[in-house]
Amino acid sequence: MAHYLGLIENYRDRLPVDENTPVVSLCEGNTPLIELKNLPQRLGKNVRIYAKFEGLNPTGSFKDRGMTMAVTKAVEAGAKAIICASTGNTSAAAAAYAARAGIACFVLIPEGKIALGKLAQAMMHGALVIQIRGNFDDGMRLVQLAAETTGVALVNSINPFRPQGQKTVAFEVIEALGDAPDYHALPVGNAGNIGAHWAGYSEMACEQTKACAYCDGKCPFHREKLATRRPIMVGYQASGAAPIVHGKPVENPETVATAIRIGNPASWELALNAQRESGGWFAECTDEEILAAQKLLAQTEGVFCEPASAISIAGITKDLEEGRIREGATIVCTLTGHGLKDPDTAIGQCVKPLTVDAELPEIERLIRQNLPKA
Ligand code: F0G
Repeated sequence: MAHYLGLIENYRDRLPVDENTPVVSLCEGNTPLIELKNLPQRLGKNVRIYAKFEGLNPTGSFKDRGMTMAVTKAVEAGAKAIICASTGNTSAAAAAYAARAGIACFVLIPEGKIALGKLAQAMMHGALVIQIRGNFDDGMRLVQLAAETTGVALVNSINPFRPQGQKTVAFEVIEALGDAPDYHALPVGNAGNIGAHWAGYSEMACEQTKACAYCDGKCPFHREKLATRRPIMVGYQASGAAPIVHGKPVENPETVATAIRIGNPASWELALNAQRESGGWFAECTDEEILAAQKLLAQTEGVFCEPASAISIAGITKDLEEGRIREGATIVCTLTGHGLKDPDTAIGQCVKPLTVDAELPEIERLIRQNLPKA
């Protein structure tokens, strides 16, 4: 296999770049699509469930897909600095790609409300981290104004290049499965990613009619496995931050899934469009359901995602029980971020480690007590 060089190189023909574009990449994308073998049995349902584990991107979330494009295009346009508001992951990705590009990065985050790993990343990559006494929605309003008055490039998902990068997740799913799944479930926060997924699926589904601009059909840009259909898109929001589910902004959003603690999503309309065109829906899950799904996934499948990501598992569990998702279906869940991003929430849910003297009998006793029963 050729050395994988990141999603811009891999999908050059489908992205707004040319041979003079200075690509800023950390070899993002190409994440594993893991079949969840134990979960269907646990749920007592005859379905195939796959996790698209976006937590295995270079900074640990799907944001790297959008950020390689946004920073590449910002640098191409001569930008010396970028800015974003974030619940954590966007700031981590922005900081890393800015470091890679040798430009400055400013991030606005809600004070005390982002997971520890994400804060560490933004700080370590050398961004100027500005904590605001306010929430993500306040930050979003401020960065749009500040980008205008200072001329710094805005890299939130309202930047049109972000969804271009993020749409590639759908390409990879189709290449792995040979076609689109029946359902694609994902968390919805600022609501950019669901529309980006939909754009990617749509592009692949209509590819048959698109003539190749490069050759007579033999060039490497020609892909064999194209989609014959598009999935039903299902978006999940946390109960304390579910503006799209309830059709109105939430003034003080609250959820343990801090990544999606958002009350007034910037890409609301695009998300609605994806839902309507695909015949899908939005639904909510409680914090308890989210944490239970995170733990279930970690303990039955060995996949550790952050709380916001686990909402797709929590959501499809309910929708399968209620018969909203049909038996026999193929379902892909995007696990948007890695569990290591938020160690505090994970540790808070688990039994504390045991502490014993460094003596063999103690260890043997614990092993015997805890061996699975024959
Ligand atoms: N999952 C994770 C782990 C996220 O970090 C986000 C968004 C989402 C899901 C929702 O995606 O906004 O496209 O609907 N995080 C943004 C941030 C808001 O600042 O990191 P979305």
